[in-house]
Amino acid sequence: MITKNISILGSYTSKFGELWDKSLADLLFEAIGGVLKNSTVEPDQIDAIFVANMAAGSFNDQRHLNAIASQYFVHFPPAYRLEGACASGGLAVESAVLGLLSGMYKTVLVVGVEKMTDSEVSKVTEILATAANTNLEYGATFAALYALLTQAYQNKFGTNREQLSAVAVKNHRHALKNTNAQFQKEITIDQVNNSTVVSSPLRLLDCSPISDGSAAVILSVENVKNKPKIIGFGHGQDSIDLARRTNLTELKATKIAAEKAYRMAGLTAKDIAVAEVHDCFTIAEILAIEDLGFFAKGTGGIATAEDKTTFGGTIVINPSGGLKACGHPVGATGVKQIANIYELIAEDQYAVGLTHNVGGSGATAVVHIITK
Ligand code: COA
Repeated sequence: MITKNISILGSYTSKFGELWDKSLADLLFEAIGGVLKNSTVEPDQIDAIFVANMAAGSFNDQRHLNAIASQYFVHFPPAYRLEGACASGGLAVESAVLGLLSGMYKTVLVVGVEKMTDSEVSKVTEILATAANTNLEYGATFAALYALLTQAYQNKFGTNREQLSAVAVKNHRHALKNTNAQFQKEITIDQVNNSTVVSSPLRLLDCSPISDGSAAVILSVENVKNKPKIIGFGHGQDSIDLARRTNLTELKATKIAAEKAYRMAGLTAKDIAVAEVHDCFTIAEILAIEDLGFFAKGTGGIATAEDKTTFGGTIVINPSGGLKACGHPVGATGVKQIANIYELIAEDQYAVGLTHNVGGSGATAVVHIITK
């Protein structure tokens, strides 16, 4: 059981995409200003800031982002930067919740940001690859690591090309309604099947893109009536390198994180109506919906191809378009997922929602459960 109310008081998400006219600081401040405007919280009520960012030091030559975030405020609240590859956002939200539960803070701001497109794609790929175990996996891009997971999964369960493609097609269709999405463009199974091979069997349209963007939420221990609340969270870790994993057809860190979050919330996978899951590659969504307990192992691809993960199905997965179509500014993603689910629960579109954020090829996973 979570010991205090953790209310979400507001959210903001910037446009995701290639944002040539915005700097890292522009995106950071846009999200901070946006979330304050979208809540009734005054700037001087912010007790602390948790900044999620993977690699501004490498992408933007900026390694002191917590200080820049604090500088937005006249009272310079204490600020922290959380870094856990693509799970930085989930870690920042989790750390903010721990700060609230400790009694140290009453109201905190979480902001995630990444500005990736100022670098050449080859440089971005190299920077992202530092989230793998560089001593043991040097030279492997993230697409290559997820391609290995895809091959292991296909060998065991026979998941076909169409089932992988169905994930990308569904998420692009969901993103049509999301004006912040990087791609508001429908794609077909044939287009995914015939897109350029990036790392076999993964193709261009199996991949999340390289993106700029930011997102923020404000959390409080105040029990604000009718405001969505975080009622459970979990954090799992597993071997950073694939060679030391016991099973390549699941992400153990996800299973651990989900089990902890469900236990804390007193719920099971069956209670979740909507989820934003970490679909950095199409195989990642298939693994996620199985490891989170929504579908049996080996059936995630079939369920997706049978429209069980879209509106009117068993559970709605990635209504925002997910990382695939909404975009993946790595440090912002985990915070954006919380913002997405908060907004859907606040509007009473669903009763209970879940977020699932993964770092690297599955070494870190963070799950949050939100309801009113
Ligand atoms: N999905 C859909 N379309 C994409 C895309 C993607 N992932 N990536 C690029 N595109 C589109 C571009 O918009 C562009 O379209 P246009 O010609 O209509 O303008 C076209 O494809 C070519 O884009 P380009 O910038 O040349 O692509 P690229 O080859 O430089 O990059 C990838 C493609 C797949 C290599 C890159 O998106 C990538 O590395 N993705 C993975 C990122 C990653 O690993 N994240 C961490 C996950 S753990």
